[in-house]
Amino acid sequence: MSIFWSSWITILSFGCWLFILGVLLFVLRNKPDLAEDGTTGHTYDDVIQEYDKPLPKWWLVIFFGSIVWALAYWLLFPAIFPSHFHGLSTVEVEGKTVPWSSHNELYSDLEANNKIFTDNFNTNFLPNPTAQKQLASLAALQVKAPVKSERPSELNDQIDAGIVALAPYVTELSGNQKALMAGERLFLQNCAVCHGSTAQGAPGYPNLTDNDWLHGGKPENILLTLHNGWHVNLDPAQPLPMPAQRADLGEQGVRAAAEYVLSISKNQEKGELDPVKVAQGKAIFDEKCFICHGADAKGTIAAGAPNLTDGIWLYGGDRETIQETIRHGRGGVMPEWETKLGNERIMLLAAYVYSLSHNNVVANAPAAATSK
Ligand code: HEC
Ligand code: HEC
Repeated sequence: MSIFWSSWITILSFGCWLFILGVLLFVLRNKPDLAEDGTTGHTYDDVIQEYDKPLPKWWLVIFFGSIVWALAYWLLFPAIFPSHFHGLSTVEVEGKTVPWSSHNELYSDLEANNKIFTDNFNTNFLPNPTAQKQLASLAALQVKAPVKSERPSELNDQIDAGIVALAPYVTELSGNQKALMAGERLFLQNCAVCHGSTAQGAPGYPNLTDNDWLHGGKPENILLTLHNGWHVNLDPAQPLPMPAQRADLGEQGVRAAAEYVLSISKNQEKGELDPVKVAQGKAIFDEKCFICHGADAKGTIAAGAPNLTDGIWLYGGDRETIQETIRHGRGGVMPEWETKLGNERIMLLAAYVYSLSHNNVVANAPAAATSK
């Protein structure tokens, strides 16, 4: 904390304390002159007269008590030059004893709540010692470098392998009605803002119920998507995941490529198409687009590139929207959840997401899974 803010806090806490003490002493010291009948001589509306009665004892005791308590509080909690004096009281965070500040107190509370959640998860959802061992060793790896982008690639590979190894338990959890209810609640709290409360998505935000996947629909794919997110570290210097093509192809090239995409997608009247452009577009596709979308245009998980032949659209399948996508590129951001929710919650979420499109696995998954 800078000296400025440290002094600011000191002035506020000490100044207020001194001011209140001063006002109280002033009021107690300065007695007004009283008339013989005990009134101060002030009258209101000619009838109401003012007496000078002592303050009630209980009130004074509380008042002086809180002034003394403030002194004790300053010793315990860092309030007087907090940049130098951290207070005498402490809390536990990550097994370490740290000063009692509101920041540390919050983390200490979060840890305590997480422990309750994890214990509940281990006893009620996944009472499997092998799984718990795997979760513990995954957590031990993550602690080494909590933020993915700051991890050495070897550690990242180890962590991803640890995440993938949890996939069978996700399948198991997706058959557990209580786990699905917990997953649904977590989904509504964290994911519905983007994917919708029925997980059916919106333009740019994929539908999670249709079993059509950008990043793969197996439990291990879903786990990795949730842990790591997608396109999380936005770097304007880097091309978008779906790179803008106009500079490269020119406007004619963009239109031709869009015409070809229309021709292979399921939801267009073939008669509307311009066959010359379709042929040009196919040549462009076979040269530039197949790397990510695959030679058959059915998409690849490695690039997160969608299937262009299935009539399911992330951004829209009309001519203008497809042209716009190719012209300026797209880069949907799926946040990472590992640092926010932790491994156990992510498993419940993955089980819930998995159940939405695999309702043959889960007999009583929510009805949304059957639509679209
Ligand atoms: C800020 C908006 C946002 C939030 C919040 C969000 N997502 Fe996403 N999510 C996206 C976007 C955008 C994509 C598509 C990324 C892309 O374009 O490749 C995505 C992709 C996914 C995918 C991959 C879909 C596929 O087709 O492969 C899954 C699974 C997913 N999200 C689940 C979740 C879950 C579970 C949560 C809550 C913990 C969540 N998302 C929260 C925006 C969000
Ligand atoms: C570097 C890999 C890459 C290349 C090259 C690439 N794409 Fe894409 N494309 C993607 C990704 C990734 C997405 C999904 C973007 C997102 O999730 O926000 C996408 C999305 C699209 C979409 C939107 C689909 C929808 O469902 O709305 C279209 C259309 C498309 N690409 C066409 C093309 C064409 C045509 C080319 C060649 C001119 C091309 N792409 C080249 C990676 C690529």
